Amino acid sequence: MATTKKTTKKAAVEVVEAPVEETLPQAAPAEITVETKRKILFVASEAAPFIATGGLAEVVGSLSKALARHERYDVRVILPLYQDVKKEYRKEFRFIGNIFVPLSWRNQYCGIFEYVKDNVTFYFVDNEYYFKRPGCYGYYDDGERFAFFCRSVMEILGFIGFYPDVLHCHDWQAALAALYLKTIYCFRPEYQFIRAVFTIHNIEYQGKYSLDILEDLFGISYRYRNLVEYDRCINLMKGAIECCEKFSTVSPTYAGEIKDPYYSHGLDQIVRRNEFKLCGILNGIDPEYYDPATDKALFANYSAENIAPKAVCKEELQRMLNLPVKPDAPILAMISRLVSHKGLDLVQEVIEQALRQDMQFVLLGTGDSNYENYFADLARRYPGKVVSIISFNSDLSRKIYSGADLFLMPSKSEPCGLSQMIASRYGTIAIVRETGGLRDSITPYGAGGNGFTFHDYNAYDMLYVINEAIGVYRNKEEWAALVKKAMTTDFSWGKSAEYYEGLYESVLK
Ligand code: GLC
Repeated sequence: MATTKKTTKKAAVEVVEAPVEETLPQAAPAEITVETKRKILFVASEAAPFIATGGLAEVVGSLSKALARHERYDVRVILPLYQDVKKEYRKEFRFIGNIFVPLSWRNQYCGIFEYVKDNVTFYFVDNEYYFKRPGCYGYYDDGERFAFFCRSVMEILGFIGFYPDVLHCHDWQAALAALYLKTIYCFRPEYQFIRAVFTIHNIEYQGKYSLDILEDLFGISYRYRNLVEYDRCINLMKGAIECCEKFSTVSPTYAGEIKDPYYSHGLDQIVRRNEFKLCGILNGIDPEYYDPATDKALFANYSAENIAPKAVCKEELQRMLNLPVKPDAPILAMISRLVSHKGLDLVQEVIEQALRQDMQFVLLGTGDSNYENYFADLARRYPGKVVSIISFNSDLSRKIYSGADLFLMPSKSEPCGLSQMIASRYGTIAIVRETGGLRDSITPYGAGGNGFTFHDYNAYDMLYVINEAIGVYRNKEEWAALVKKAMTTDFSWGKSAEYYEGLYESVLK
């Protein structure tokens, strides 16, 4: 069970303040003409709207779209063609050919499909042996599957005659693309000017394998062992950090945090050694995709100018969840994977104290069975006050984002987090711990901000701000002003897309 003592470990290394705006790469002036278009290729294991298991997909989908708005970018994305890629899109894909991809002693079929959406060209790598399975991850041969994917990426460039200026790899599943570029392909003339950028969406998942399989499975010569070896294992994330020209992570605060062992999952040494090429750029969300004024999943549509229909969303949500329809009882919501770094032990510690007042608590998510059981049991013990839905459902999540009043995200660590931004955009006030992207997107109400925050990983500090938030909620005028403030906070890609442009320009100099 959780503790109330401060669990924030003393940092062995001081967390260096995250790069501030001035030190982030700045976009180049606009004199680049259409002829000199920058060619950017995203390599990723998922992208919305085709296939999504989490925030990575949303970012790959929405950032590529935001960049492709600029005439001077030719943005393409390459993904595995999983069985679960949405049928509605899949049937529109165009088959453009097939090749055979060498991977160590293997030579594997690779079909290539193409689809253009919002000015972005998407390629899908087809191989039924590797990808015709339910879901995206969790197979014994994930290492081999993503090695095949990354090696295919490099081969496909030759097939389609597209040699990007920047190969932008996301997370460990795409790390090998950067490694193959620097160890195998850069010796070929067409590949020699390709620059690699690597983005860490979550440092927890690094892609670790036994060193024995470096040549046999990944097809990388032992000569390059020092690039990928860490802690007597292959560590693909480490390899990409070493190989890329620049690497980034998804918020400025997290860029500072991953230099600290408390947050780094063992990689802080590598991050610090490569600090000169690190920057943190806050994710955005697609404001069209998340728009309470047009979202069809909502019971009623509303906007910052006309907030009143949000009350209908709340009333209908209460009805749907069999909660008493009480316009004045604040609904505190959580939509989260039920895993420990989401701060669920803090919730376990104090939620029953919070529930003593007139409020309702709604949770949506799946994850570790101990949390699933806990929240299911809590709902049984507090009928009419607590509802736990142990599943994930995007339609329902939007109904909750719009119908709730408060949104709780007390993460122990959070590289960026998108839910707090979505909730705010839907006028549901975020309560967050000041870590990673939560700290960079939600500012404390007391200081004129758009939500409520607490610093230490401490259940009673969290309870204190929940109560503070409910206090403000009871003051109708103050609350309306805060809701408006949250809804009008700019969470779009605007500035952040510019930082990415600057990052690309900086590696191309
Ligand atoms: C990962 C992180 C999350 C981030 C997302 C998109 O899922 O855990 O914090 O928002 O990637 O970058």
